[in-house]
Amino acid sequence: MSDTPTGTRPAPGTRGAAIVSWGTALPDNVVTNADFEARLDTTDAWITERTGIKERRHGGSTASLATEAGRAALDAAGLTGDDIDYLLLATTTPDYQIPSTASEVEDALGIRGGASDLNAACSGFVYALVHAHGLIAMGLQRVLIIGAETMSRVTDMEDRNTAILFGDGAGAVVVEATDDDGQLLGFDLGSDGSLRSLLDAPIGGVMQMNGKEVFRQAVTVMVRSANASLAAAGATADDLALVVPHQANIRIIDAACNRLGIGSDRLATVLHATGNTSSASIPLALVDALDAGRVAPGDLVLLVGFGAGMSWASAVVRWPDVDALRSSGATS
Ligand code: ACO
Repeated sequence: MSDTPTGTRPAPGTRGAAIVSWGTALPDNVVTNADFEARLDTTDAWITERTGIKERRHGGSTASLATEAGRAALDAAGLTGDDIDYLLLATTTPDYQIPSTASEVEDALGIRGGASDLNAACSGFVYALVHAHGLIAMGLQRVLIIGAETMSRVTDMEDRNTAILFGDGAGAVVVEATDDDGQLLGFDLGSDGSLRSLLDAPIGGVMQMNGKEVFRQAVTVMVRSANASLAAAGATADDLALVVPHQANIRIIDAACNRLGIGSDRLATVLHATGNTSSASIPLALVDALDAGRVAPGDLVLLVGFGAGMSWASAVVRWPDVDALRSSGATS
């Protein structure tokens, strides 16, 4: 655990936080559209045109993928599990009903702080990011957030409506207390439980989905939530350097981004290679953009997701100067 002594913690809400490192994990097993073409009444052309997905990865457990991504994020900042005060694992595909998947990941990474799962479906990572900022404002020093999923385990591989869409993977970030107001400029978390039957999976069962209605609702809530976060941040879409949307369907992303006035030059997408990885999709797309050098210190980045529940979440962050934070010793 970090050495922030109890009793000298700042008052709630008075200190900021920022992402200081990240990591990802994907299973080795690549499932292409041609693989589905061979088994189901579908075609590569249909899947590509209707979803933008070309391939996805299947395999591993949620805990194993989360551990790999989490370890990569710790290593990138020279941290160990001892440095983490809380592990927040966003997942809608936990390995066990009891206990939390976070408990296995915590053990594997040597984290001795608190650990819990958070299920807000595909909005989970952004929910976790906002929760982490809240925990740090309340006095914690570092929170490891992981979005990890094995969607293939809850997908009926004989159902062409859903089988083609989903994949497995994980993405992790370390969020750390800063001396300034931090990176989070505005956020919006929402849920409309009356829409929960649009997409669900009973315990031990597989997903069923009203794809058309999910599509329609998704575009609406993404735009509404993005605008709410921008307003809270005192920013407009023109100010954004990058938008990282939930990776469900390229047509949903394009429709929402058209309404927001965001072109593909300011859009992060990985779904052609990953499919919909639910809680993992936003960190996978974010890390892909970071690795490609598409984000600079000071840039405004919008993360926006939607998912079963129906839930939605967005956040506007000012990208930190990660090198300066690491070399200032903040992460040591
Ligand atoms: N291959 C070929 N045909 C297909 C396939 C397939 N894989 N899947 C469906 N079809 C057929 C349908 O059966 C239908 O045939 P019919 O006209 O004879 O009945 C036809 O294609 C058109 O079906 P639609 O449902 O109208 O197709 P649509 O353009 O809406 O695309 C899709 C379907 C891709 C599922 C789309 O609706 C979608 O992406 N919806 C959102 C799904 C989503 O984002 N889910 C994740 C939410 S996040 C979370 O919380 C996990």
